[in-house]
Amino acid sequence: MKTIYINTSRPYNVHIGAGLIHQAGAYLNAVVGEGLVPSRGQSGRPQGSPLRDNETHPPHGGGQSLRPNEEQCKPPSPREVARSAGGSIALITDTNVNRIHGDTITASLVAAGFRVVKYVTRPGEGSKSMTNLARLLNFLAEEQVTRTDTILAFGGGVVGDLAGFAAASYLRGVRFVQFATSLLAAVDSSVGGKTGVNLAAGKNLAGAFWQPEMVLCDTDVLLTQRGRRFMDGVAEVIKHAIIADPALFARLGEKGYIRSNLAEVVARNVEIKASVVSRDELERGERALLNLGHTVGHAIERLSAYKITHGYAVAMGMAVEARAAARMGVCSVEVAGKIEGILAAHGFDLACPYDAESLAAAMLSDKKRSADTITFALPQEVGKCVLVPVKVGEMVGVVNR
Ligand code: GLY
Repeated sequence: MKTIYINTSRPYNVHIGAGLIHQAGAYLNAVVGEGLVPSRGQSGRPQGSPLRDNETHPPHGGGQSLRPNEEQCKPPSPREVARSAGGSIALITDTNVNRIHGDTITASLVAAGFRVVKYVTRPGEGSKSMTNLARLLNFLAEEQVTRTDTILAFGGGVVGDLAGFAAASYLRGVRFVQFATSLLAAVDSSVGGKTGVNLAAGKNLAGAFWQPEMVLCDTDVLLTQRGRRFMDGVAEVIKHAIIADPALFARLGEKGYIRSNLAEVVARNVEIKASVVSRDELERGERALLNLGHTVGHAIERLSAYKITHGYAVAMGMAVEARAAARMGVCSVEVAGKIEGILAAHGFDLACPYDAESLAAAMLSDKKRSADTITFALPQEVGKCVLVPVKVGEMVGVVNR
C-alpha cells in the first residue's frame, strides 16, 4: 500500500493499493470522522488517513523531492470505524463501472454504516454537460443530501469532473472523495481539484477548483480496465514522464511496464502531479506545464465531437506540440523524435486528422487563452518542459505539421 500526501489548501491523501474497494466504507469513515469540510485556505493534518492519531504522513510533494513515497499504511482501525458519523454517500458512477463494481463498493459503504444513494450516468464525455450537471444537482436535492454528507466520485475522469463540480456547487460546497476506477483518473484527473463540464464552445469551460478530501486507487480495479480506455491513461503517464521524469520515460520503453508495476507507476505519477499542484494549486503559472499536449489535444477532442478520446487526443497533441517545439528551437529534433517514438511504440495513432487552420480555430476558445495569447507547455528535453506564450495570429504556423 502506498500513500501520497497532497499539500494543497485542503490537504489530503491518495491511497494506492490492491483490494481497497472492499475497505472503501472504512476509509470513508476515517474522512467523515474528521468533521465538516474545512474552509478554503485552512490546512491541517492529512485527512482520511487510516493511520492512528499519533502517526502522520510527512508532507510530501512540496518540491523537495520527486522520489516515490514508499510509506506503508494500514487500513482503518476498528476504533476509527466505530466512530463513524454515518450519514449519506452520494455515489456517482457510470453504467460500465456500476455493472462491474457497483455492488462491491455499495456493500462496503453499507457495511460501514452509510446510507447510499446512487446516480448512474452514461460513460463518455457527453455526460460532462450542463444538462447532466443540473440533473445531478436536482438528484442530490431530491435525495436530501446535506452538508454533512459526502459525494463519492466512483469512476474515471468524466465521473470525477462531473461529481467534483456538483460537490463544489451543491449547497455551496460539500465533502468530496474520489475513487479512481480508470488509469487516467488514478494518474491525473482525480488529483489536483480540477472539476468541470464542457460547453458547446469547448472542453472544461465551466468548472471549479474543488479539492477532494481523499483519493482511493485500487490497483485490482484499475487492472480490470483494458484496451483503449487503459490507453487513455497511458498517454497521461507518458506526459508526466516527459514533464518531470526521464527515468520513468526510459522504463516506459519496456513492454508491459505499466501493467506489471501499476502501484509504483500510479504513485510516481501522483507524486509528480502533487509536486506541481502543491506549488501552484490554481494554475497561475507552473501548473500549466501539466497541460502538455492538451492545448492541441482539447481542440482535437472537440473537432472529433469527442469520438477521439482524451488520451488519444493528448497523444496526438503531444506529437504536434513536440514537432512545434523543435521547429521553434525550444527542443532538438532528436527530443521531438524520442517523444513521437515512445507514443508510437505504445500504439498511439499520431496522424492528426485536422489541418492547422481547424486546430487553430478550435484553440481560440481554449481556457488557457488570455487576450491574444495562448500559453503552450512545450518540451525542452525529456524530463523538462517550459511555458511558451504564442500569439493567436501565429497559431496556424505553430501547429502546422
Ligand atoms: N490535468 C492537468 C491538471 O490537472 O492541471
